[in-house]
Amino acid sequence: MKVLVTGGTGYIGSHTTVELLNNGDSVVMIDNFSNSKPEVLKKIKQITNKDFKFYEGDVADEKLMNQIFKENKIDVVIHFAGFKAVGESIEKPLMYYRNNLNCTLVLCEVMKKYNCKKIVFSSSATVYGIPKELPIKEDAPLSTTNPYGRTKLMIENILNDLYISDNEWSIAILRYFNPVGAHESGLIGEDPNEIPNNLMPYIVKVANKELDHLNVFGDDYDTHDGTGVRDYIHVVDLAKGHICACDEICKNSGIDFYNLGTGKGYSVLDIVKAFEKTNNVKIKYRIQNRRPGDVAICYADPTYSYEKLHWKAEKNIDDMCKDAYNFVLKKDF
Ligand code: NAD
Ligand code: UFG
Repeated sequence: MKVLVTGGTGYIGSHTTVELLNNGDSVVMIDNFSNSKPEVLKKIKQITNKDFKFYEGDVADEKLMNQIFKENKIDVVIHFAGFKAVGESIEKPLMYYRNNLNCTLVLCEVMKKYNCKKIVFSSSATVYGIPKELPIKEDAPLSTTNPYGRTKLMIENILNDLYISDNEWSIAILRYFNPVGAHESGLIGEDPNEIPNNLMPYIVKVANKELDHLNVFGDDYDTHDGTGVRDYIHVVDLAKGHICACDEICKNSGIDFYNLGTGKGYSVLDIVKAFEKTNNVKIKYRIQNRRPGDVAICYADPTYSYEKLHWKAEKNIDDMCKDAYNFVLKKDF
């Protein structure tokens, strides 16, 4: 099958492209490098020994999107392109609404024009807001606390309306929990240029001595050690979930929502200890105040994804810590 991957040089898009190519699918990719580097293209080719077509540009550029669909007979789209930083979305809401919504609207309009009606969309566990019940199931109440989260929920609603208007669409909404780790080759991974907001990239920079210590945001939550608990999922497991979602939407039309998580919760200090043990390094940390907007505990019930997509996360917390660090040790770009 021929898959258009938007945002394909990004963290999750690059790992998913590797899995698609390894699965024998043909890939057409678009990215504007707003949050990624061109070097990723050759790393993907190095890992897979396979080639693919790449267009540099903005998904909201209607002319370019028309050209892509004219030049390639696309069967399925996996839509990663978008901005993702919660804090930045609070400071620059218009930029987030414009980019995330415009990309999706233009993409869907052009897909419709070319009669390509199969899409996998990257949503987030952020749409569950403050969870009322744990583990979180797909039918849990939805709410958002920041502009980034609202773009995700709005896009879920747009796609839902699209399906209601035309039942030929086949749509998988994937709600990711906390993606971490990197490809085991160490050639692709997550390496933010600025000071990271997320836990694992921050720990990696402390291990690498780029940062002095980790700030642990609160140790007075109602959790086993007082620090926040999350469902960390290895990015390669997550990438594989997209292959399963593509298979499913090629079989049946409809719209469905899937949690991509492991179903296990780890605290900040659990992660620190696992990272120290697997990588044989010391992570200095200081307890700080809670970070505003953080929830105490968030982890998935991934049962539905297993039943319907036949997908299950396989890698454990040690794999996540080992691969995250290995990528930064090996990085040459
Ligand atoms: P990323 O920033 O690494 O990748 C996104 C890619 O999209 C980047 O390469 C960027 O250059 C590109 N892009 C952004 N706007 C574009 C545009 N208008 N046109 C073309 N390309 C554009 O992010 P990621 O971690 O790989 O996340 C992928 C998707 O998954 C995003 O939609 C994100 O919101 C969602 N998601 C991520 C997480 C996470 O923790 N990483 C969690 C939940 C959901
Ligand atoms: N944390 C620290 N110190 C840090 C960074 C994080 O103690 O320097 C703690 C947080 O307080 C939280 C846990 O580590 O308890 C995880 O924090 P992350 O920032 O790594 O992840 P979040 O769960 O806050 O957010 C992530 C994504 C969001 C997404 C959300 C739900 O960044 O985009 O998961 O899927 F919305």
